[in-house]
Amino acid sequence: MIKISPSILASDFSKLGAEAEKCEKAGADMLHIDVMDGHFVPNITIGIPVVKSLRKCVSIPFDVHLMISNPEKYIPDFISAGADIITFHAEADCDIKKCIKLIKSAGKKAGVSLKPATSASVLTDVLPELDMVLVMTVEPGFGGQSFMEAQLEKISEVKALCSKLSLSTDIQVDGGINTETAKKVIEAGANVLVAGSFVFNAQDTRAAIESLRQ
Ligand code: DX5
Ligand code: ZN
Repeated sequence: MIKISPSILASDFSKLGAEAEKCEKAGADMLHIDVMDGHFVPNITIGIPVVKSLRKCVSIPFDVHLMISNPEKYIPDFISAGADIITFHAEADCDIKKCIKLIKSAGKKAGVSLKPATSASVLTDVLPELDMVLVMTVEPGFGGQSFMEAQLEKISEVKALCSKLSLSTDIQVDGGINTETAKKVIEAGANVLVAGSFVFNAQDTRAAIESLRQ
């Protein structure tokens, strides 16, 4: 089953609670929350207090994408704030296994994200411990960028690695997802689609979410 995770980075931040509710009512499977620290990526977005406040507005799972240095330091705070799935970057110069353990020992789902230049092979050792792999289909940092076709091959590689190990790990994609690119990533093996601009620029949120699933 294809799951859709709208990225609230593309929403109107002056009414974040209502935007999150709109996604929930429109059938979103989870809510993608992009956390950027101005260090790991050249942009600053949402932090722990915002996640905590948003938690009061909706009950769908929070899919927190940490684009931060030193994720280990902040993972416990994001868990306390209400994160259900926490994805950090393989390039964040952290102890990947330790971070996974930190997330999973709290009963939450752990994901590792790969920037476009990072090879899927960095996951070989940790794949059995992961709930999700996020293949970035744009350079992390900003919404509204164009989908990178070259990442389709990496999605297939991750899918093949999972199949080889008989794992049903979720494969998420993030960046430039619309109905056209959704079709391609699903064919390549992705089953969790993040979409910011496409969902929030649509007049009919439910129809936008459903069209990505098809
Ligand atoms: C980029 C973020 C994405 C972004 C996607 O660093 O991780 O989640 O919001 O936005 P769109 O769907 O507009 O490319
Ligand atoms: Zn993201």
